[in-house]
Amino acid sequence: MMLRRWMAAGLVAVATAGVLNAVPATAQRPYDPTAQSLRALGQRHGLYVGTAVDMAALADPAEPRYREIVRDEFSTVTAENVMKWESLEPTRGNYDWSAADELVATARRNGQKVRGHVLVWHSQLPKWLTDGVADGSIDNAELRSILRRHITTVASRYRGKIWQWDVVNEAVSDPWDTPSTLHYKGFWAEHLGPGYVADAFRWARAADPTALLFYNDYNIEAFGSGDPANDKTQFVFDMVKGLLGRGVPIDGVGSQGHLGTQYGNYDTLQVADALHRFAGLGLSTAFTEVDVRSRLTDGVQAGDSEEINPRLQASAANFHVLLQACLAEPRCLSFTVWGFTDRHSWVPGTFDDPPQGLATIYDENYQPKRSYQLMKADLIYAGPPYVRTRATPKPRR
Ligand code: XIL
Repeated sequence: MMLRRWMAAGLVAVATAGVLNAVPATAQRPYDPTAQSLRALGQRHGLYVGTAVDMAALADPAEPRYREIVRDEFSTVTAENVMKWESLEPTRGNYDWSAADELVATARRNGQKVRGHVLVWHSQLPKWLTDGVADGSIDNAELRSILRRHITTVASRYRGKIWQWDVVNEAVSDPWDTPSTLHYKGFWAEHLGPGYVADAFRWARAADPTALLFYNDYNIEAFGSGDPANDKTQFVFDMVKGLLGRGVPIDGVGSQGHLGTQYGNYDTLQVADALHRFAGLGLSTAFTEVDVRSRLTDGVQAGDSEEINPRLQASAANFHVLLQACLAEPRCLSFTVWGFTDRHSWVPGTFDDPPQGLATIYDENYQPKRSYQLMKADLIYAGPPYVRTRATPKPRR
């Protein structure tokens, strides 16, 4: 009896794997994987492929390709800015939901899941809040209750509509900060102490019982020295392990994946190792903001192909490393790029001294770059036994 049940389960597994990897072909039209979208190819692995969405570009009548690519190539979307606190509550007590609602409605029309970004972050806070704290009119006790109200208000409004929430973003310092020993940094830690992280997850869970709750950060793609004093991945690992140990409802760790071709970066095995170790804690993972920028040297700006080509290739190689590692870890649920076209990328506006760019998978004219093709190849040439379909985690209570 036991044996038969076990065999039946095995057959179901084989059948499921068969369906997932089936190559639907007809006599008239042979199946051509290279003609499939990223979202369709991701589906073979249960992997969601996403992009951050710039709501101004999405609404621009002159940008039909932007809308088409968002709709056709991606199965999950993130609001690049419009779910941030300064956008949602520009003046105290007056929430403006219009742009965030529009994103959620668009995703629904397109059959896409939404990554909510972001409930708690030290950046892009409304001026009334930071000014109020600076001039002493908001004390720390009031600040804590304001944060609680914000998380509750936003998570409740979108209850049932958000797949993954970035509950806390970028809470940890970098080795180049002062002091260089890694620590909880920024506005919230300074005023409320590190305990705000656990509070935020508990408040988010109380408001939304179904979303997967994520901690999100950059420079945590791979482990370094293993010393939490200078290895940010280790610091975050210890932090989330501690949260789990105290029963805090955290479901996942988001690795932003903002890389640059001028840095050393990582290989697939290092990145896969990091994802496996987070998975070993029982957490999901995701790449949440991937882009790989390059220096726009004089030669690049003058169109010198000898300077441009190696940068495009190095950028593609880094997209490939992160995607291949994600595919190799069944608890890596989604792979989101931070904008998909150099036409609408935050990189040139943010990293301008020296100028940087070329960070996304389509060029400024919406032509797919080598990085897009390499992502596609990764999704096509992957399968069991090393790449299996994704786990379906239950939100932690
Ligand atoms: C960036 C947006 O892309 C920009 O448009 C905005 O001006 C600043 O924020 N990490 C994050 C994202 O978590 O929210 C940031 O997005 C990029 C870095």
